[in-house]
Amino acid sequence: MKVLILFAHPAFHKSNVNKVMVDGLSATDSVTFHDLYQAYPDFDIDIEREQELLSQHDCVIFHYPFFWYSNPALLKEWQDLVLTHGWAFGSKGNMLKGKLFFTAITAGGPKASYTNDSFNGYTIQQLIAPLLQSAMLCKMITLPPFIVYGTHAIELPEVMKQKRIYSELLRQLAEDEFEVEAALEYEDLNDYITHKMK
Ligand SMILES: Cc1cc2nc3c(=O)[nH]c(=O)nc-3n(C[C@H](O)[C@H](O)[C@H](O)COP(=O)(O)O)c2cc1C
Repeated sequence: MKVLILFAHPAFHKSNVNKVMVDGLSATDSVTFHDLYQAYPDFDIDIEREQELLSQHDCVIFHYPFFWYSNPALLKEWQDLVLTHGWAFGSKGNMLKGKLFFTAITAGGPKASYTNDSFNGYTIQQLIAPLLQSAMLCKMITLPPFIVYGTHAIELPEVMKQKRIYSELLRQLAEDEFEVEAALEYEDLNDYITHKMK
């Protein structure tokens, strides 16, 4: 399976967590790491190139830091321009049909703050509903998110642990060891991979 990581971080030079998470990710042929802010600093997205990239891959990951309970602006612009009617969705828009989709998110808030009765009021799974529903509209198979919580206070050993889990997730996808039905039983892909690694 070929995996496309659409990475969107508007201030990557200031990143602590994602800098570690994505380091070395493009090392395998099966994983394409595509840094959107690097490719399109002026938001001038090459729609044909993006659609061609999507066509060449079987799994699409939106990887980004959580900003205002959502994704950075360039990733929204990318959706608005690239996912066109008749290509990505609509009765004749089948180019993404059957591909896997999930989000890989780093969030400043700890996991305990993302419940319906705590500080942030919603789970991240609830907050990413528009992305999941958009992927559904494009006839993709949506998976639970991969989430690194608590980045405001995270220590390097925990970042390294999450990086190992993410790398293992990508390896399983690339080598067709990933089990979609089993993964759907989990609230996040971190738990699915951790369970499988035991
Ligand atoms: C503009 C902005 C908005 C943010 N909004 C949120 C938010 O809604 N929820 C949250 O948990 N963290 C939020 N954060 C924290 C980032 O998610 C966090 O700094 C990032 O995941 C850390 O990754 P990095 O070290 O790679 O930059 C926000 C940060 C910025 C700069």
